Amino acid sequence: MADAPVPENETPDFKLFSFQDFNLISGMHFPDEVEQIKNWEIRDSDVFLLSYPKSGTTWMQQILSMIEAKGDITATSNQLISQRVPWIEILHDKEKFTTAASPRLRTSHLPYKLLPRELTKKRGKVIYVARNPKDVLVSYFHFHNFAAMLETPKDFNDFFEKFMEGKVFASNWFEHIKTWYLHRHEMDFLYVTYEEMIQDLRAVVERICCFLGKDLSSSQMDNVVMHCTFESMSKDSSVNQKRVPETFLNHQKGTFMRKGTVGDWKTHFTVAQSERFDRMFQEEMKDVPLRFVWDIK
Ligand code: A3P
Repeated sequence: MADAPVPENETPDFKLFSFQDFNLISGMHFPDEVEQIKNWEIRDSDVFLLSYPKSGTTWMQQILSMIEAKGDITATSNQLISQRVPWIEILHDKEKFTTAASPRLRTSHLPYKLLPRELTKKRGKVIYVARNPKDVLVSYFHFHNFAAMLETPKDFNDFFEKFMEGKVFASNWFEHIKTWYLHRHEMDFLYVTYEEMIQDLRAVVERICCFLGKDLSSSQMDNVVMHCTFESMSKDSSVNQKRVPETFLNHQKGTFMRKGTVGDWKTHFTVAQSERFDRMFQEEMKDVPLRFVWDIK
């Protein structure tokens, strides 16, 4: 979402609006186009990366494109990550999608109900990346402070309330993950967490290769992992979002590759906020068999 193409000579009027009970951003998302995505024809080789914002989407985009390039960075570095694994909901992707060569790698924050229906006929593959929601909230707070398309929060407390109420782009975290996860059996679906990637990146890359049917040599695998670490992605201007124009990201106010850790919520949440969040989590997730890692020491 960070690296949308800018319409020439135009500063879009960014505002949150609700489309079929899901919050999108005017100037970036167009209802007529988003509505049409449901009808897109899917090829077996298509791969859709799905996530709630700030869950490690860019990281997974990099993993997918590096796997596709068999770890060869020279094959990818001349293209921005948003060109390698484009967003389906941003600015007219439909035509490019129809004519693109296989495999078509695509990214989205959309909810289950707005994605191509053919995915539920087990055509194409879906990879859903999730992150513990307290760290998502913190990362999203910092992102709001420098993303021009998002309203700057008054303070952390203000943003905490907005997140809890789902008054942010992509709406409610619980709704997003629950709906995707509970429908997983309809799709060729892989669920991956940010925390697993932090704990053992190579194991996750191997699991994804297996899911995609990609057979990489050990040294190719080493290269994929090497180019997907926080350190190397932070230095790589094709993925670190520093080339995203100021119309979208005010680089004086924040950094996209910010911390890349697990448990940063502890330096932001008050005890009362944490307890309130835990109660909501227990209530919302009581029928969902998902467990999260909240901290890594
Ligand atoms: P932080 O703000 O907590 O640092 P998304 O791409 O979904 O918007 O997620 C952005 C978050 O993923 C940011 O989290 C960013 O630093 C983190 N991230 C991106 N690449 C990473 C990597 N290779 N290792 C760890 N974290 C990464």
